Amino acid sequence: MYLNDEQKQMLAGEKGEPAQVAMEILNALGNIYGAEKLIPVKSAHCAGLSLKSHGIAGMEWAEDMVRKGAKVVVPTTMNVVGVDRSRDLGLPADWVEHQMRIEKAYEDMGCYGTSSCVPYYYGFLPRFGEHIAWAESSAVVFTNSVIGARDNREGGPSAWASGITGYTPLHGLHLDENRTGDILFKVTANINSIADYGALGNYVGKMVGEKIPVFENLGNPSLEELVYFGSALASAGGVALFHAIGLTPEASDLNAVFKGKTYETIELGQKELEQGYQNLTSGKGKDVDYVALGCPHFTLNQIKEVADLLEGKRIKDGVTLWVHTNIPIKQMAEEFGYRKIIEDAGGVLTQDLCTILGNPEALGVTTLATNSPKMAFYAPGSNGLDVWYGDANKCIQTALTGRWEN
Ligand code: F3S
Repeated sequence: MYLNDEQKQMLAGEKGEPAQVAMEILNALGNIYGAEKLIPVKSAHCAGLSLKSHGIAGMEWAEDMVRKGAKVVVPTTMNVVGVDRSRDLGLPADWVEHQMRIEKAYEDMGCYGTSSCVPYYYGFLPRFGEHIAWAESSAVVFTNSVIGARDNREGGPSAWASGITGYTPLHGLHLDENRTGDILFKVTANINSIADYGALGNYVGKMVGEKIPVFENLGNPSLEELVYFGSALASAGGVALFHAIGLTPEASDLNAVFKGKTYETIELGQKELEQGYQNLTSGKGKDVDYVALGCPHFTLNQIKEVADLLEGKRIKDGVTLWVHTNIPIKQMAEEFGYRKIIEDAGGVLTQDLCTILGNPEALGVTTLATNSPKMAFYAPGSNGLDVWYGDANKCIQTALTGRWEN
């Protein structure tokens, strides 16, 4: 891969050890993927910052990079971590201490410690066509598909390396020719809720793997529905980009997305939608002791919906309710009284963390109800939880009764 003089200096260690480490990562990836050169990025988003992903060795490595002067050179946001720095949730003390050290190290490198998978909700919004280096699969599929930014599914180390150097290798979805659709899905199912979008996304993600699905008749989804749909595609499969005819910016019509390619057409009806729900449900007993919402992190609108459902009520003793969001949106929820309503009912509006990357199983919970297709997909494996999947209203009714009722 071609390197310019500045990039060669970084690789030779002339701009310090952190820049050298970062350039080694990018140079190796560029050579693996056959990239012609590095291109500048406008922003980076570092993921893998939970203690579950980083581990103690990763924490010590990050602290070492700080001591050696590591500083990001483009706006770099931080993904979800495994602790809520604003409160004691009862998680093990050493877990909290180590997680806070990881957060501090990245903040000391100049990253924004807003710790969330949805930085585009609060000011870090890429433009159409802009090259970025973001990790976090739900954010990547959203920025690529709904905004039309250019991003690959970066891992934590490569996103960090791009933040430190300002570059990423030119390959994959940074190139227009790699953004054409692979399979057409015609939606005939009735899609009426965010849970429906999640279930459909799960079904398709499982089927297509890393291919680029194209949707016809996807309805008129809200912002949140598009985010949850993308997160389902990206978790059940490796989808980093989808197109929806008439909805997403590169999909004005079938010609624009397939560009003369031949493609298979698959119908998505009620049967396929129902299969998506079944894929996401692993619950056996109907007693539920943990309800978690906000994966990806909730918007103010979604938090208000939960507050409206909980107003004047009390969740059942023995049930833990966590609603995940980030610092900026939690501040708004505080300002408008939604946090108080949720917490007066016995729930917790968390910041910074989420169920998958946090450690709620350390509290002894066993059975989860959620409206998140991504959480429902990962929680059995990553947290050892049985899962019931459905819309937010059903999850809140479950929090009030402790039972998942069909
Ligand atoms: Fe975000 Fe955690 Fe879900 S990072 S997408 S809330 S698994």
